Amino acid sequence: MSTLTIPAGNGTLKPRRRDRQLRFGLMWPNSPSPNVTSRRQADHNPDVLAVASHVRLAQTAERIGVDFVFFADGYTHHGADNARVGHGEPCISAPVWAPVVMAATEHVGVVTTMHARYHSPVVLARLGANLDVLSGGRWGWNIVPGAKGSEEALFGFTDTVEHDERYAVVEETLDAVRALWGAGGEPIDFEGRYTRHRGTPRGPYPVQASPMIFNAGVSEAGKSFIARKADYAFFAVTDDLARVKDTVADLAARTEAAGRDPLDVSGAGSIGIVIGSSSAEAQEKRAAIEESVDMDAARGWARGFLGGSQTYQQTFGSDLDAAARKIGIAAGSTVLAGTGAEVAEQLVEIHRATELRGFMILTLDWNPDEVALLGDVFPHLERAGVWTPPAERGWSW
Ligand SMILES: Cc1cc2nc3c(=O)[nH]c(=O)nc-3n(C[C@H](O)[C@H](O)[C@H](O)COP(=O)(O)O)c2cc1C
Repeated sequence: MSTLTIPAGNGTLKPRRRDRQLRFGLMWPNSPSPNVTSRRQADHNPDVLAVASHVRLAQTAERIGVDFVFFADGYTHHGADNARVGHGEPCISAPVWAPVVMAATEHVGVVTTMHARYHSPVVLARLGANLDVLSGGRWGWNIVPGAKGSEEALFGFTDTVEHDERYAVVEETLDAVRALWGAGGEPIDFEGRYTRHRGTPRGPYPVQASPMIFNAGVSEAGKSFIARKADYAFFAVTDDLARVKDTVADLAARTEAAGRDPLDVSGAGSIGIVIGSSSAEAQEKRAAIEESVDMDAARGWARGFLGGSQTYQQTFGSDLDAAARKIGIAAGSTVLAGTGAEVAEQLVEIHRATELRGFMILTLDWNPDEVALLGDVFPHLERAGVWTPPAERGWSW
């Protein structure tokens, strides 16, 4: 643990606690309509480039009992149709906007996506350490390999790194970053296959002994990396719950085989949620959003996922139109719609059927008043014995 004293006001250290209670993440809105390829939703949501939108939403998330918010990120959009409808365009930079959420809250975890291959581990270590200090010790890193051809071209890479090797780059980047974080003012000498570092990095160093590491993507290579080095696996909850259950069990077995406690790796299953004051109202909201999906943009999104992700290829198959019909809403994750009690009941069912211990909520409408309705779900989960208010478990990860 760092000996650094956290300045008052930065937030409170988020401890790690291994238990079976559910944790909830909120996929942070980083574009006008991040989770639906819909102009209607983009126009209806708050202004993604206004600081005030993020402050209000951050305070809402913390108040209702969300454990962490999750900033996805990337450098190119999914296509002209996606840009036209405000899906993923413009897209705010995760490490730049995360501090807005950190400054507006005290306990909620803030996870930022940062790509391994695109940035030097020296830059990543420095950004990460500063984000952890800025938040008082509640930052997490979604370390992603960068799988898009359009991003490779934008960065000017001329070499191609194959799927499994991308995870080797991710793993070595994380090792290098952890070595830089561990320097504590002394020189380090890190010699890897892809990167080498000699010298003394400047402080500050992270507040958390080891900031939470997230990984999205549960291909064989992805799972193997998660089991050895990560803390959270992030993947879609789909209607095929047997498959989700297999992924959860496989991750636990691999984590144990890697000499770790299976509870060392938590799952965050992405899931769309629409809450209404009645069943009928929730179904109407969902139907209106479904009708507004732009299919050309949905195909653009599906093409991107199916092109770079083995996880998505296995889940949605290779028929682009069939995949796009699902992926256009909540990136193909299951969407639950109902009252707080009804949604809680379905979450409990999924939890019991799969042993998944965490969910990443995808909002189809991210107006703070709409997101506040998610707060209706938690008391029902508490009564079912699967959720404890974050304050009662020390706001632990
Ligand atoms: C649910 C989910 C969310 C993802 N979020 C991001 C992201 O924000 N930025 C990014 O560059 N890649 C993202 N990815 C892509 C993954 O990091 C990874 O490159 C891709 O899934 C390929 O790995 P896989 O074959 O193990 O799935 C995401 C993937 C999934 C499944």
